[in-house]
Amino acid sequence: MPEKKEKFYLTTPIYYTNGLPHIGHTYTTVVADVFRRYKRMRGYDVVMTTGTDEHGVNVERAAQKAGVPESEYVARMADAWRSLWDELGLTADEFVRTTDLQHVRTVQWLFKLCRENGFVYKGHYTGQYCIYDNAFVNDAKPGDNCPDCGRPTETLTEENYFFKLSAFQKPLLDFYKKNPDFIQPESRRNEIMSFVEGGLKDLSITRTTIRWGIPVPGEEPHVFYVWFDALTAYLSAVGGPDYEKRGMWPADLHLVGKDIIRFHTVYWPAFLMAAMLPLPKQVWAHGWFLMDATKMSKSKGNVVLPRPIVNMLGMDALRYFLLREVVFGQDGNFSYDALVTRYNSDLANGLGNLASRTAAMIEKNFAGKIPKPAEHKQQDAALAKEAQAAIGEVLERYEKMEFARALEAIWAVIASVDKYLTTEQPWALGDSEAEKQRKATVLWTSAEVLRIVTMLAHPVLPQSTDKVWALLGQTTSLGAFALDGLRWGQLAPGTSLGKSQSLFPRVDKVEAVERIESMANEELNPTQPAPAAATPAPATTPTAGAAAAAASVAAPERIGIEDFSKVEMRVGQIKTAERIVGADKLLKLTVDIGSEVRQICAGIAQFYEPESLIGRKVVVVTNLAPRKLRGVESNGMIVAASVGPDGRPVLAGFHEDVEVGARLK
Ligand code: MSP
Repeated sequence: MPEKKEKFYLTTPIYYTNGLPHIGHTYTTVVADVFRRYKRMRGYDVVMTTGTDEHGVNVERAAQKAGVPESEYVARMADAWRSLWDELGLTADEFVRTTDLQHVRTVQWLFKLCRENGFVYKGHYTGQYCIYDNAFVNDAKPGDNCPDCGRPTETLTEENYFFKLSAFQKPLLDFYKKNPDFIQPESRRNEIMSFVEGGLKDLSITRTTIRWGIPVPGEEPHVFYVWFDALTAYLSAVGGPDYEKRGMWPADLHLVGKDIIRFHTVYWPAFLMAAMLPLPKQVWAHGWFLMDATKMSKSKGNVVLPRPIVNMLGMDALRYFLLREVVFGQDGNFSYDALVTRYNSDLANGLGNLASRTAAMIEKNFAGKIPKPAEHKQQDAALAKEAQAAIGEVLERYEKMEFARALEAIWAVIASVDKYLTTEQPWALGDSEAEKQRKATVLWTSAEVLRIVTMLAHPVLPQSTDKVWALLGQTTSLGAFALDGLRWGQLAPGTSLGKSQSLFPRVDKVEAVERIESMANEELNPTQPAPAAATPAPATTPTAGAAAAAASVAAPERIGIEDFSKVEMRVGQIKTAERIVGADKLLKLTVDIGSEVRQICAGIAQFYEPESLIGRKVVVVTNLAPRKLRGVESNGMIVAASVGPDGRPVLAGFHEDVEVGARLK
């Protein structure tokens, strides 16, 4: 009988449905996916869950704005989230929606247990409430803004059911002391301990002011407070009231952002204690990805989207960057420049180059078969020792969620083998028996290092390491390989290499950033008319998916004349045109639109010579908000048809003479 595997249950937060995933959300889910793969390779039976948090006043409002019932709105948004995760290769084992029947049953059951055990009572609550964060703001006065998001609070008085959170101050502190690893990282643990030491107030866990929520049975119009509802998703995902059958609860790891640590380390364990259910083993809070030093949010217009990056550089590049760039637990800045730099240096020149040159030399010198090493020299043994030591170090780093350090250790080995190849110069060795043997040893050694780094990097780079694995002629599934059995020396000579595949083609930084930004602009403004002229659509831009779903929620397919009339288009005449240094697709134009002369950037540089445009009459969208393209302000957009598979822009124009400034209707 095979030994029963130990279980490991990990979760991402369940995401709000009033927006679509950006890099911040992607980060949490990527980390969960990396850890899931890593734990599987350590022999665990792993379940990872994610999902959508679909109740609350924000959803009520968003659905109203979109003119659809809440249930329809959330169904579309949940689909959009789910399909984006699928597209990014981040499909969880369970996807919970808080509108699922199983979840509704679980929330009602948890409440019943808390109530039966004497931890729920009815009362009144008046306070300042932040509708954006779905939380009463403790100690806020009327007129105060929410300390978390900075937006105004509203005064609310409600008849509520209260949860006796105050009764859990001591049990929680005892629990934290007994389980020093429960809250990670350490700095968050200290923060939470002092918060709880400062005293806990009872918490209202039902609402009568909100309609769109899970009803409290027999107590309508009470619905559950969104956090009582949302946190319970972790339990409903693995069986709810029947959790024992599935055998996954308690969770081994809740991964969360630092903004929601309190909900997970104070409220959630208290609810579970009250219901006498087992508590999760660990909550890990990561930092934020910032854009221009502030947290990304759609309202601030500074979000970074995952899809354009993936279209340009591949999902593995994004995964690598997110984990390598920032120490897990801390905040970090997101920058496209840094992303592409890392891609070129670590992936294209690092792993990609090692794989392709090693394979090419084996192909050329040993007819595509892994050679048999001969006598080892001291430098071969030194590399072997380093790679063997890296195995232990990397596993330890992963285990502690020190992803940047794990990758650093792997890439240090890649740097060493690069250096080894440069010194040993296998390509310069001749065909004498001794030289052939030396060549065999050097190439086997390099291929063996490649095999080891490939396995170690697999949790972070699943797609590309699968390719390297096949290139090394391995036929077993890499993801199913037990990392605990990984040792130096297991690469079998005689194995035929697989077909070589492109791993990380090098990209031109300026062009790559420009294309990512241009795709992101399009995804964020899907209803914008004729984007081809200002920002040409690369051939890889996907059509379907989450953005389309969001657009279809936000904008019906047909628009009324009043919507059309919101777009102001005028006849403009191009006065000057010049290329922009560092942006080979953009032209900087000045255009006379009758009332003024505007500066406009247009993505037509590859199709129109600047001089040929002077004096030309074009159609200009004049009431678009100004934006910066490659650092140059663009105040308007030139309309063009997008023609052919590469979206060649053809400027709209007139066959009759028209007056500059005339409005198009
Ligand atoms: N619905 C709640 C969670 C309920 S869990 C029982 C929620 N949703 S959220 O969509 O707003 O955020 C989900 C996660 O995304 C949080 O962990 C949050 O920290 C993370 N991020 C959102 N923006 C982020 C960044 N800019 N950077 C990193 N992660 C951030 O909260």
